[in-house]
Order: sequence, then structure tokens, then C-alpha cells
Amino acid sequence: MDCIVRPERPTDHDPVREINILAFETESEADLVDGLRREADPVISLVAEMDGQVVGHVLFTPVAIGDTPAGPAAMGLAPLAVHPEFQDHGIGGELVRIGLEACETAGTEVVVTLGHPDYYRRFGFAPAIEEGISYIGREYDSFFLVRELVPGTLAKFQGEVHYHRLFEEL
Ligand SMILES: CC(C)(COP(=O)(O)OP(=O)(O)OC[C@H]1O[C@@H](n2cnc3c(N)ncnc32)[C@H](O)[C@@H]1OP(=O)(O)O)[C@@H](O)C(=O)NCCC(=O)NCCS
Repeated sequence: MDCIVRPERPTDHDPVREINILAFETESEADLVDGLRREADPVISLVAEMDGQVVGHVLFTPVAIGDTPAGPAAMGLAPLAVHPEFQDHGIGGELVRIGLEACETAGTEVVVTLGHPDYYRRFGFAPAIEEGISYIGREYDSFFLVRELVPGTLAKFQGEVHYHRLFEEL
């Protein structure tokens, strides 16, 4: 299967919404993506396309870490969704890998995400708490992960992570 990952276009908004609803079995993440497109800046939004069909989506938006205000230097990966009929074919992995490259090109130094450590470890993510980065107290310690894109920059980002306020409505 040939899959390309490319920046989202306005004509992708409807299929991206559909994929998020199908993958998460709720409209919450789809609503979040629609809101973040309007309100977050910058936004890195990529789709995976196969045979002209959009089959996956990933979004990166700025996060504040400790005293560092939200900006492109630190981005949060969320949400990540692959159409259920196309899961387990490496599409999510391609979205993450190419998404991290796009972040690096945009000047991002670190990326955080909340997700399964076994899945994200393969992309170089490690427990954020071990690097002095936490998420809403300690409850998510095992699942809150960080990946340094620019070597040596992680030490600048210490403290609690805050995503865009729309994440609080999830
Ligand atoms: C998670 C998701 C994006 C992965 O995309 P995908 O294209 O199916 O994944 P890939 O084909 O790149 O990778 C498949 C591997 O990931 C593993 N994997 C998939 N979902 C996983 C999860 N939630 N936790 C741990 N591992 C997971 C599979 O077991 C498989 O492992 P293997 O390579 O050792 O066999 C997709 O399953 C999805 O959309 N799920 C519903 C929404 C969701 O949970 N999003 C992630 C929020 S963090």
C-alpha cells in the first residue's frame, strides 16, 4: 500500500473530522481539531493519503512548559488518528515520523504527547517525568512522554505542561 503524508488542505477538513470520529468513537477529538485549527498558532496538521483517500491525521499545537510560554519551540502531539479500516499498516507511524520532521523544520525543540509508552517509544519518546516535565500532577506519569528534537534543549523545558485551553474541554 502506498501511503503519502502531506500537510492538510482545507478540502481535508471533512474527512479528517470523520476519521477522528471513527477512530475515537466520539465527536470530542474531532471538535477539538476543528477548534484548534481556528485558535492555536502555529498548528502543524498532516494527513496520510492512500489512493486519493485521506486515511489518517495528526495534529501538533504549542504547549507551555513551566515558565516557558506556549510557542513553536515546544509542541504537543494530539490527536493522532487512523481510519479503523486502515489501522496496523504503519500509517500512524508514518504520521508521527513525518510530523516530527515537520516540527523540527518549524523550529520545534521538544515534542510532548500523552499516549502508550510502547507505541511512542519506537519514535524516540521517553517518560517526560524523568526529564523534569510533568502533566497535571502525577496521575499521568507513565503515559506522558517527551521527545527532544534538538539535542541539548530539553533542559530548558522544566515543569508542568499546559496544552491549549481547548484540551480542557475534552
Ligand atoms: C493509535 C493509532 C493512531 C495507531 O495507528 P496505526 O496506523 O494503527 O499504527 P501503526 O500501524 O503505525 O503501528 C501499529 C503498532 O502499534 C501498536 N498500537 C496501536 N495502537 C496502540 C495503542 N493504543 N497502544 C499501544 N500500542 C498500539 C500495534 O499493536 C502495532 O504494534 P506492532 O508494530 O508491534 O505490531 C490508531 O490505532 C488509532 O487511530 N487508534 C484510535 C485513536 C487513538 O487511540 N489515538 C492515539 C491517541 S495517543
